Formats: sequence, C-alpha cells, structure tokens
Amino acid sequence: MRQHPESWREMRARGKRLDGGDSDRVAEDTSLLQRMIERLVTQRACLDLAAELVARLTGPVVELGLGKARTYDHLCRLFPHRDILVFDREIHAPPAYVPDPAYLYLGDFRDTVREAVEQLHAKVVLLHADIGSTNRERDRQLVDELAPLIDELMCDHGVVVSDREMQRPRWERLSLPATAGAWNYYMYRTRKRDR
Ligand SMILES: C[S@@+](CC[C@H](N)C(=O)[O-])C[C@H]1O[C@@H](n2cnc3c(N)ncnc32)[C@H](O)[C@@H]1O
Repeated sequence: MRQHPESWREMRARGKRLDGGDSDRVAEDTSLLQRMIERLVTQRACLDLAAELVARLTGPVVELGLGKARTYDHLCRLFPHRDILVFDREIHAPPAYVPDPAYLYLGDFRDTVREAVEQLHAKVVLLHADIGSTNRERDRQLVDELAPLIDELMCDHGVVVSDREMQRPRWERLSLPATAGAWNYYMYRTRKRDR
C-alpha cells in the first residue's frame, strides 16, 4: 500500500482530521472518500427534513457558506419559490452556481450576518450553516459570535441546520433523520420569542 507522506501520518496521530469533520460517528480508519459520502448524505437528509418542517412558514432561507455551492444548489431545488440569501467571504463556486449579487453577502460572517439582521430580523425560516474548518478552536469562537446573530434572524418555529454545535436558550435540538449518514450534524427548532 502506498504510504502517505509523514505530515499526513503525523496529523492523523495528533487526531487532526484533514477534512475538518467531526469524527466520533465514523470509525478512525474510515477513508476520506467514505467520510465525504457520510457528510454529503447527512447534509442532504437534514436539508430535506428541514424543508418539510418549514413548509408552512413564510420567509427566506439563508445559506452560510456558499463554498462549492453543493448545498446551495440543493436548497434552490427544495425552495424554488423562496429567496435564498447566501453568505461567504469569497467565491469559489462554479460561475453558474453563484447567486445574483442581490442575494449575496460577501465578507466575513461576523460582519455580513450582523448587517443582515436589520434587513432579515425574525424573518428567516431556515438557516443552513456549513461553516466548519479544520480549526476547532476558531470554529468555536466563530459559532459563539454567530449564534446570537442567527437567533435574531430566525422566525419563531424556524429551523437551523448546522455542521457545528450551536446553543441558544430558545432553540430546541432536533433528532437527525434516520436517513442521515454517520456524520455529526445539528438541527434546531426555534421556540416562540418572549415578546
Ligand atoms: C465547508 S465550506 C461550505 C461548503 C458549501 N456549503 C458546499 O456545499 O459546497 C465553508 C465556507 O465557509 C466560508 N467561511 C468560513 N469561515 C468564514 C467566515 N468567517 N466568514 C465568511 N465565510 C466563511 C468559506 O469561505 C467556505 O466557502
């Protein structure tokens, strides 16, 4: 079997994943290909369930993390008649999948989500946060800053789907669908706000 370079083996020995994903739902020796499959199957299952859960609510959808536009394109098919607002600091999606500038917030999430709060306050029915990196500590700090802003965006009984654990007092954690793969993902439903 071809040996991986030393740096790869060292990273694995330190428990660091090259794909940045949570690892406690897949065996240590699972290939990167299988891990990617588990992640994508989980994302599709969670977004499909979220679409059912918000079907009766009125309002826009938010995608945090355009990336290569895989999940954005899935959201476009699930929600052909809703506005989908997309956030990222840079564009690396194929040009055909880049949203119209009117629906695109370019810049650091901490700035753009804050900007969007006024415009979208309490209107968003579904927010998908696909924001994880290989740096867990940095992700935790980002989530700590973003979760209160996301909470302001969300309507009552809306759904947050995230690749990183988030907590807010009015968010109730949901079980993942049975069709999800072996990948950590998080789904929350927002309770009614105290007025
Ligand atoms: C995991 S990728 C998203 C993958 C995408 N959902 C897909 O299905 O192709 C994460 C994205 O979040 C963006 N991102 C990460 N941290 C960010 C930050 N602080 N502000 C803005 N964008 C950020 C990255 O540029 C990257 O495109």
